[in-house]
Amino acid sequence: MILESVLITCNADGSPHIAPLGLHVHDQQLVVAPFRPSRTLENIARDGHAVVNWTTDVRLFAGPVTGRRDWPVLALPDAPGWRLQAAHTHAALRVAQVDDDALRPRFVCDIVHEQTHLPFRGFVRAQAAVVEAAILATRLHMLPADKVERELAYLQIAIDKTAGAVEHEAWQWLQARFADWRTGQP
Ligand SMILES: Cc1cc2nc3c(=O)[nH]c(=O)nc-3n(C[C@H](O)[C@H](O)[C@H](O)COP(=O)(O)O)c2cc1C
Repeated sequence: MILESVLITCNADGSPHIAPLGLHVHDQQLVVAPFRPSRTLENIARDGHAVVNWTTDVRLFAGPVTGRRDWPVLALPDAPGWRLQAAHTHAALRVAQVDDDALRPRFVCDIVHEQTHLPFRGFVRAQAAVVEAAILATRLHMLPADKVERELAYLQIAIDKTAGAVEHEAWQWLQARFADWRTGQP
């Protein structure tokens, strides 16, 4: 099972680096698997720590992949690192094992602390649509254009039927990215 998450790692200067990542669930551990090259990979390899955030504010998925990296964070009270202010739940991770790989190393992590901050009020289809579109936005270089357009048309239905203001805002950021892609901008 993969949990779509927002991972915060620490840059060398201690500042937070925010990136959406899918974390693989393996028994009691979570596996972080960043493709090379990535800042997330550099950071977690350097200090062996990361904070996973689970949030329904899907701007945290659409934002970082469209250049919006600056989000409200709070320093963890009892460990190095940061969590999202918008996290329903965060968990502090410590790397227990590294499976190195030329393409996609895997960092098998223990959960050292987990805390819930906000209530969960159910599924919104538009949230899932934004997450799917955010993944598409990071894979445009490897997907056929007609597949991207077909998937976007389908995801648009859930946006039209179920989105609130947050999901519309995230969707607009992604639409601007897809518009650039259609005109050939990398
Ligand atoms: C929902 C979602 C899941 C993602 N999962 C992964 C992942 O498991 N591994 C990865 O390398 N990138 C993943 N990405 C793409 C990264 O967020 C993106 O490439 C990011 O910029 C990481 O690079 P950075 O650490 O240099 O910022 C995902 C993106 C989204 C929207």
